[in-house]
Amino acid sequence: MDQKEVNSPAAEPVKAARDNTPSPAYAKFMSEGWVPSDLDDVVAGPAVTSAFLRRTTLSAQYPGIRLVLPAGGFKVRSNDTDYRFRPHSAFAYYSGVQGVEASADAVLVLEPTETGHETFLYIHPRSTRDTHAFYTDRRFGELWVGRRFTLNEARARYQIETRRVDDLEALLKDGAAALTIRGEDPMIDKNIALHPQEKDFVAYTSAARLIKDEYEISELQRACDETAKGFADVIRSLPAAVSTARGERVVEAAFFGRARIAGNDLGYETIAASGSHACILHWIQNDGEVRPGELILIDAGIEMDSYYTADITRTLPISGKFSPAQRALYMLVYEAQLAGFAAVKPGATFKSINAACQAVLAKGLSDMGVLPMSPEESLLPENGLHRRWTLHGVSHMLGMDVHDCDKARDEDYILGTLKEGMVLTVEPGLYIQPDDEMFAPEYRGIGIRIEDDVVVTADGCRNLSQNLPRHPDEIEKWMLSLRN
Ligand code: GLY
Ligand code: MN
Ligand code: MN
Repeated sequence: MDQKEVNSPAAEPVKAARDNTPSPAYAKFMSEGWVPSDLDDVVAGPAVTSAFLRRTTLSAQYPGIRLVLPAGGFKVRSNDTDYRFRPHSAFAYYSGVQGVEASADAVLVLEPTETGHETFLYIHPRSTRDTHAFYTDRRFGELWVGRRFTLNEARARYQIETRRVDDLEALLKDGAAALTIRGEDPMIDKNIALHPQEKDFVAYTSAARLIKDEYEISELQRACDETAKGFADVIRSLPAAVSTARGERVVEAAFFGRARIAGNDLGYETIAASGSHACILHWIQNDGEVRPGELILIDAGIEMDSYYTADITRTLPISGKFSPAQRALYMLVYEAQLAGFAAVKPGATFKSINAACQAVLAKGLSDMGVLPMSPEESLLPENGLHRRWTLHGVSHMLGMDVHDCDKARDEDYILGTLKEGMVLTVEPGLYIQPDDEMFAPEYRGIGIRIEDDVVVTADGCRNLSQNLPRHPDEIEKWMLSLRN
C-alpha cells in the first residue's frame, strides 16, 4: 500500500544554536533538482520469518488489547552529542529490525482485531526534499546522519505495515487499553495509562527469549566465533600494551576494532583488567598498566548486527606463561567451571549450576587453608564465607541482551529449570584482593574468571565458545602461536 510521504510540520528539526536558518532562496534552491532515489530492490530482512512467528505467539497471549513496543530514543552523551543508537531488545525481537537499520523513536504496535492483531511499524521515514529537515536536522536529516528507509522500503524490508511515528500520538490518544514497556519512550509513557497487566507483559516479553531457535543459536555461535578472533587480536596487542602507558586501553581498543568491523558493536563495555584490577568485577576504566609476569582478565563480547552478543572471559598470563601461584588458582577456577558445565542439562535447576561451581571453589579454598570452617558449612546459605573470594553467581541467560531475559518471573528463570535451547554463561571466578591477608603474598592481587557461553542440548550442553582455549597449557600454546 502506498502512502504519501510528507514531513509532518510537527517534526521540528533538531539543530544547534549556531546553525543558520536557511534563507528562502537557499531553502527553495535545496528543494529542487534532485533525482528520485527511492529504492525498489529492498529485500526482506533475515529475521522477518522469526519475527512474524514471535508476533503470532505474542498476539495469542494478549488477545483484544493493543501492544506497544518502543525502540527507545537517543541517549544524550553530552550536550547535542548522542550515544550511538541501539534499540530495545524486545522491539528488535518482535520487529526483526537489525543493526544500523534501527532508527530512534521507532515503535512496533500490535493493534487488536477480531482474529488477533494487525502489526504496524512506526518510524521516522527518510526525510523528503520538500522541507528543510534533510539538510538542517542534525539528528535525523539525511545529509547529517545518512539515509533511512522510506515507509515503502521499510515495509518491503520487514514485511510489516509502516506508518510515520509522528502520527502515533494521535492514535494512542484514543484511550484504548494498551500494554507497553515503560521507561523507553517518554511519548509512549505519557499516552499509555498503566494497565494492571503491564508487569505481566514486561515479564512475558522478556521470558519469551529464554529459549533460542536455530537462527538465534547460529547468531550466538557467530558472535562467539567473532569474539574468539577479537581475543586473538588482544593477544597480538599485548606487546604494544606492555610498552604503552594505560596499556589496558591498548587491549580494549584491539577488541573494539574487531567488534566494529565484524559486528554491530560491543555487547557491553569491555573489561580489560590487568594485575589486581582483575579483582574489581566490572573494571571498565581500563586505564592501568599491563605488566609482564601478571595476569590480565579480559571480559568482552561482540554483538552481531542481529544484536545477539557473546560474553566471554579469559584470564591470560601477560608474558605467555603462568606462574605456579597463578596456575594453582587458575586450575581451581577451571575445575569449578567443568563442574558448572556438567550441571547444565534439561531439567536441572538454574541454581544448580552455581551450586556446582561454588562447591568446587569452597572445597579448593578450604584445601588452601583459608576457610575458617569446613566447605560444607561454608556452603550453607547462612554462612557463605567462601564468597569473600568468589563474589558473584556463575550464570545468566545470554542473547540480545548480555544479561538476557532479566525481567522474566523468578519461576521462569532464577527459580526455574533449564530447557533445551536456553543459552547461558558459566563463569566462575576467584578474586584475591591485593590487601587480603588471609592469603599468602604470592596470591594477593590475583583475579581469575573463566567465562563460556553454552547452549542447553537434549542431554547436556554445547560450548559455543570452545574455540577459545581454556586450559592453562592450551592458553600458553595459543599465546605462543599468536606471537610467532
Ligand atoms: N560481562 C558481564 C558478565 O559477565 O556478566
Ligand atoms: Mn557474563
Ligand atoms: Mn562477562
